[in-house]
Amino acid sequence: MPTIKINSLTSIESNPSNTLLETMEQAGLDPEYNCRDGHCGACRCTLVSGEVEYVGFAMAYTKNNEILPCICRAKTDIELDDIAHQIKKRA
Ligand code: FES
Repeated sequence: MPTIKINSLTSIESNPSNTLLETMEQAGLDPEYNCRDGHCGACRCTLVSGEVEYVGFAMAYTKNNEILPCICRAKTDIELDDIAHQIKKRA
């Protein structure tokens, strides 16, 4: 399974059938999002290395090196930066 490195700090295993946003959530992170559908751009982050595939249509503006994790899956090991997230509080 591809590895996702986040903000040069955290590494998680990607689940190939989930989007990057879902994968981060399952790993206990709480990344910023709003629409979960490629419209709002709230989840936008920088793809430092690796390849992703889009499973939805990106309506929000992204620069060349930016992706929308809510509608992407990891194709290879990837490195993401500028992800606004918190560690979920465990009940
Ligand atoms: S959450 Fe809206 S574009 Fe990803």
